[in-house]
Amino acid sequence: MRRILKYTAIIFGLILLFLTYFVWLNLADNHNNEALLDELPSQITPKYDTSESKNWWKQTSVYQVYPRSYKDSDGDGIGDLNGIISKLDYIKSVGFETIWFSPFFKSPQKDHGYDISDYQSIQPEYGNLVLVDSLINEVHKRDMKIVFDLVLNHTSNQHPWFLESKSSKDNPKSDWYVWKDGKADTPPNNWKNILGQISAWNYVKERDQYYYAAFLPFQPDLNMSNPEVKAEIFKIVKFWLDKDVDGFRLDIFNFIFEDTSYPDNPSTLQLSNNMSEGKWAFEEHKYNFHQPEVLEFAKELREILESYSDGRFMIGEVFGSHRHMRELLGLEKQDGLNLVFLFDFLERFEFSADYFRQKVEEYEAFYPSPLVPTYVFSNHDQARSITRLDNDVRKADILATFQLTMRGVPFTYQGEEIGMTTGEIPLTEAQDPLSEGWLAVPKWFREEIGVLPNRDNCRTPMQWSKETGAGFSSNDITWLPVQQNHTSINVEDQLQDKNSLLQTYKSLLAIRKQYPVLKDGTMKFIDNEELPEDVLGYIRANSEQTVIVYLNFSDKDKIFNNNLEGYNKVLFQKRGNLNEGEIKLNSFGALIVTN
Ligand code: GLC
Repeated sequence: MRRILKYTAIIFGLILLFLTYFVWLNLADNHNNEALLDELPSQITPKYDTSESKNWWKQTSVYQVYPRSYKDSDGDGIGDLNGIISKLDYIKSVGFETIWFSPFFKSPQKDHGYDISDYQSIQPEYGNLVLVDSLINEVHKRDMKIVFDLVLNHTSNQHPWFLESKSSKDNPKSDWYVWKDGKADTPPNNWKNILGQISAWNYVKERDQYYYAAFLPFQPDLNMSNPEVKAEIFKIVKFWLDKDVDGFRLDIFNFIFEDTSYPDNPSTLQLSNNMSEGKWAFEEHKYNFHQPEVLEFAKELREILESYSDGRFMIGEVFGSHRHMRELLGLEKQDGLNLVFLFDFLERFEFSADYFRQKVEEYEAFYPSPLVPTYVFSNHDQARSITRLDNDVRKADILATFQLTMRGVPFTYQGEEIGMTTGEIPLTEAQDPLSEGWLAVPKWFREEIGVLPNRDNCRTPMQWSKETGAGFSSNDITWLPVQQNHTSINVEDQLQDKNSLLQTYKSLLAIRKQYPVLKDGTMKFIDNEELPEDVLGYIRANSEQTVIVYLNFSDKDKIFNNNLEGYNKVLFQKRGNLNEGEIKLNSFGALIVTN
């Protein structure tokens, strides 16, 4: 009996130990950034022309438009190009300098444009090529830049290339996608798709083979190792550059290449996302994520962009550690991607001065000038930023002030400027093709890992006004329902209200233009000892201007001395003021001063 008890205790002990390790591995932040930084070259030399006119993208501010949800001009309940054109004056008037459009190319719309069936024509519900030309023209006419979304990892399974490729083993496009024989009745190897739920391999009877799809089965991966495919893609890139598109956002860029010997990926106990090590869903994506070829590919694309004399750029939707990012930007020379999205703030953040300071210090260490970090809090894939701020507009003011005054390129997703909230469309009614995969995953776990299981909820129609249809569409039925709260959260009202979030964006973007130091100046934090708790203070300076920003991350009033003498010209104040050398920041207040 005693022996049984003893063994039971040992077994329980071991299980407990294992569970503790499992929880630690999956929930703890195990990065050692200092060690990583030591491995990276401290000097970064630009390879290409660094003149200001060519490098405008380093200093721009970007607004993301999700065409399906921006503005419906013809009453079919779906946003379109004419609708967008009618709103360009709005975007310009808010002060954004560059617009990135999620894809509007021909597509069966199963992933709402991220499944392209022709890169050089336009999905009819959005418009046509003539309208795209006029969109490019109208954006330029307003002295703004235009960025397209390029999905190079995969096409739709309805793309004629794929239809031909899958038809036999010996057609001219047979090697345009990633095809492999299975092993007996099983897929070629153990690779799972990005979601980690199903095999990334999909069987096709015609070829008695499997094709690889890193994302969803209807998005087969192009075989970019095939020179013919690469050449065709370069042609497409040039097609748009010749039409004067100023840049590209590159979709899931570091999933483009695979190890062509297709070994099994190692297993791991990592269930939650540990992108920096390429591990998630119990798989280490050693052979199908961030392969060396992708770095070469980035350089080849950069060369094409640099052959246009007016400065074009690309930003990668890329994942991984800061080392991965630096490799993509070009490790020794700046000859890779121009910018990379830094996604830490997008998925989760702690709303505190300490957290923001520590993140900026991290980004400044890994992306020192001439590199430029990016700040992105919302996009068409994740919960809206205001959800991470308890839907508190005062906090959104602080977030915007931080984003638009920090050294880096800010990205704002349509609707973020008015504090649009995350919708509540249930998983079971989702149009988002990813949602199905989340149905089986417990809610607590989905929340823990910070994903948005139904991306429809950040894609609901833009709220232009309080009228029925939110000024988005004249149709009562829209592709996704308009959120009820459009009656209180909308552009029209906020344009009238001088204290609105929209006015915060307008004022700050205007200040960015008037004070270029916010775009090109150095960035230095004011010592914590000189500031009250929960207040973040930083100085942006160049040879001509100095601007100081104070942000109160707490709901308590903070009063302190302005130790920086002579800086008493107030540029921006929101629940904050400067009075005879004394700074007062009310709850979640912001103040920007200069000399
Ligand atoms: C990117 C896009 C996302 C899309 C996926 C597949 O993550 O942002 O919307 O579903 O790639 O193309």
